[in-house]
Amino acid sequence: MTQETNRLAEIPAAEPARQKYFIRLLREQVDAMSRKKGRPLTCFISTFGCQMNARDSEKLLGILLDAHFVLGKDERSDFVLYNTCTVRENANLKVYGRLGYLNGIKRKNPDMLIALCGCMMQEPEVVARIKKSYRHVDIIFGTHNIYKLAELIYERLMTKHMVTEILDGTDEIVEELPIERKYPFKSGVNIMFGCNNFCSYCIVPYVRGRERSRNPEDIIKEIEALTADGVVEVMLLGQNVNSYGKTLKEPISFAELLRRVEQIDGLKRIRFMTSHPKDLSDELIQVMASSKKICTHLHLPLQSGSSRILKLMNRRYTKEQYLDLVDRLRAAVPDISLTTDIIVGFPGETEEDFEETLDVVRRVRYDGAFTFIYSKRTGTPAAAMEDQVPEEIVKERFDRLLKEVQTIASEVIKRHEGTVQEVLVEETDTHEPGYLTGRLSGNTLVHFKGDPSLIGTIVRVSLDEAKGFYYMGSLKETD
Ligand code: SAH
Ligand code: SF4
Ligand code: F3S
Repeated sequence: MTQETNRLAEIPAAEPARQKYFIRLLREQVDAMSRKKGRPLTCFISTFGCQMNARDSEKLLGILLDAHFVLGKDERSDFVLYNTCTVRENANLKVYGRLGYLNGIKRKNPDMLIALCGCMMQEPEVVARIKKSYRHVDIIFGTHNIYKLAELIYERLMTKHMVTEILDGTDEIVEELPIERKYPFKSGVNIMFGCNNFCSYCIVPYVRGRERSRNPEDIIKEIEALTADGVVEVMLLGQNVNSYGKTLKEPISFAELLRRVEQIDGLKRIRFMTSHPKDLSDELIQVMASSKKICTHLHLPLQSGSSRILKLMNRRYTKEQYLDLVDRLRAAVPDISLTTDIIVGFPGETEEDFEETLDVVRRVRYDGAFTFIYSKRTGTPAAAMEDQVPEEIVKERFDRLLKEVQTIASEVIKRHEGTVQEVLVEETDTHEPGYLTGRLSGNTLVHFKGDPSLIGTIVRVSLDEAKGFYYMGSLKETD
């Protein structure tokens, strides 16, 4: 006990020193438990939701491996973490289902620890429900303190009680903790956190907090370190990258950040997500047009093609402004692939409104679209709106939209058939032995015969046949 008290007195106050200290303490505990069990302790993270969560999970895994956990294969591991999403109701339901399943596993391995984090945990009703009905959960934390994972696990081990730490928000951005990337050759890079847009259907601003941009110097430093470690492609991440830098002490535009990232030696491809149409500047279009590294792909969420619905959604652009933006993008970057997100069945959506959405889809001709059925999120303005659209009508519209989107995408994707394109080789093909899967600059996948040693390199591939959403190709010999 005295030894423990002494140790606690030594805890550094500032981050990241404090977390490095707790990772050390946790490592001692993990090592001791492994010795007792005669095997390493395993960990398993299951990630729901968007790219931000995927990147957060790489940070969480970095901490766990640094604390001497080893990667487990599935939920039958000693430490299981669900990094949750709450953007739509069905994301939530999945987590409750899985928690029931974990209960059975924990009965067989009572030392197992179960932790929950991510967006869903920022909702007080969710946390209350878990505390009441899912007592086998050991640790609950939110989106603002993922960097504290080691401290929270250590606290759980010391107190033997459920540990809950949810912060309402934060200004703090903790840098320089270990990160374990999923792919050695490509990486997400957070450039900002949170969202200030408050689209009326969306829960993200409530669970991710206010918009905070990272300093450009920290971003550049991180990407330089990544390229030195073999990364050739980065995806700059933010809920609305086009408003990057506006709130920094020395404001800088997203376009300017891209210019600086472009200068980094060794980096070959730059992607970013997500672009809000209302903030997409001409400066950015120019930078995209003149860049050698920015990929010819833009994800530009439409949400609805009806200006009336867009106003109710608080999106702050009209159908005409969106179409004009697409024209300007295409004029500057003729080969650009456009993808989008569309919500069907927003409160008050009429058949005419929906036809407007179909009209935009037909005019823009997207390479792909994520289509979502509107999901009512408690606490958002749209949840209180009258005229929620009946389920059968929404389903019928959703099917029509999906069909339209898929037909167009398969036609549009064909446009490169017969050409030779640069492809970043990402993995061995999961369906065809001896084949590899790579990605075009425009984001379309291509499968071709090749040696796994090519993974992580950029090669030239002839796109022999378009197959709907992907290509079958053949490797061109490099000269
Ligand atoms: N920041 C990004 C999107 C984040 S959420 C942007 O503004 O584009 C990803 C997508 O989920 C959104 O684009 C939207 O299409 C969808 N979405 C968000 N809230 C939703 C809800 N309540 N119901 C259905 N789809 C939703
Ligand atoms: Fe949600 Fe809108 Fe923010 Fe995107 S921009 S995260 S849709 S509130
Ligand atoms: Fe989901 Fe949170 Fe992303 S709600 S979509 S994981 S920001």
